[in-house]
Amino acid sequence: MDGLDALKRKYLEGVAAAGDEAALEDLRLAALGKKGEISLKMRELGQMTPEQRQTTGAALNLLKDEIDAALRGKKAALSDAALDERLRAEWLDVTLPGRPRRMGTIHPVSQVTEEVTAIFADMGFAVAEGPQIESDWFNFDALNIPPEHPARQEHDTFFMARGAGDNRPPHVLRTHTSPVQIRAMAAQGAPIRVIAPGRVYRMDMDQTHTPMFHQVEGLAIDRDISMANLKWVLEEFCRTYFEVPEVELRFRASHFPFTEPSAEVDIRCSWEGGQLKIGQGDSWMEILGSGMVHPKVLSAAGVDPAEWQGFAFGMGIDRIAMLKYGIPDLRAFFESDLRWLRHYGFSALDMPSVFGGLSR
Ligand code: PHE
Repeated sequence: MDGLDALKRKYLEGVAAAGDEAALEDLRLAALGKKGEISLKMRELGQMTPEQRQTTGAALNLLKDEIDAALRGKKAALSDAALDERLRAEWLDVTLPGRPRRMGTIHPVSQVTEEVTAIFADMGFAVAEGPQIESDWFNFDALNIPPEHPARQEHDTFFMARGAGDNRPPHVLRTHTSPVQIRAMAAQGAPIRVIAPGRVYRMDMDQTHTPMFHQVEGLAIDRDISMANLKWVLEEFCRTYFEVPEVELRFRASHFPFTEPSAEVDIRCSWEGGQLKIGQGDSWMEILGSGMVHPKVLSAAGVDPAEWQGFAFGMGIDRIAMLKYGIPDLRAFFESDLRWLRHYGFSALDMPSVFGGLSR
């Protein structure tokens, strides 16, 4: 029996001191394995007297259970400690603020183009596109501006060079987005409802003119579209775009070769302390040209003017961007000055929408 006490001390101390699972397994084999010390002692029970066998057997079983329990307990403690260690190592403060990443900003022209597109999409207008290098026919003739027409001079057109001996009229950098009217009608026919945002070019440069700028064309053709529809669409657009409860538009009789009748549209505004306010006041600001599409334009695009009619308008995107966001000089739009872009730019993550807010 003395031997058993020594064994007990040896193994329980060994278990307590074991540093990992491998050491525990060695101890288990040494004590309880097939050739372990306890197992060997069990085997000796056969040569004992029945009385001896009873007391020694019971003591051995007790010792075996004790060592087994100690082994299990230590094993659990080791794996708890391992888990604690891992949790400590992988600890992460999820309340720390994120590291801001500079992602660049959205240019005001892109922002406003998105805003305009979102508003007209909401009114059922799809987006149409056309090339920036345009043929003389699409940019002028098809829009009822024949070669000798004075409007050709007013456009300050950039001409592309033709090869030597090629006497066809040169291509041009499109002077407006109106050629997309022709392309869209020729491709889709009528009825049609599209806007066409994009770059246009004219030889001009001062505080409010740059040789390249942006327009958005609007076109709605159906059997019974009138100036009243044009007025409603433009009012609805301006109210939503300028994010004011009420706007007042003034239609001024004007002339464009591709519309009849034609109107330039002004919006009511005020200049208080150099601050422009849209919606109220006693000043007017011109924002676009418009009118009922000329029958000759419909014909040029393969749409029968006896059956179809509608309105068109053309608006300067840079101009309405300046008005809405208080940007005084158009030339800054195209200087790629990072300080200006960061000041006037918009977050890439704010997608303008009519329901979610245009500019926030
Ligand atoms: N294309 C005209 C311009 O650039 C604008 C316009 C478009 C006017 C459509 C009437 C209809 O000035």
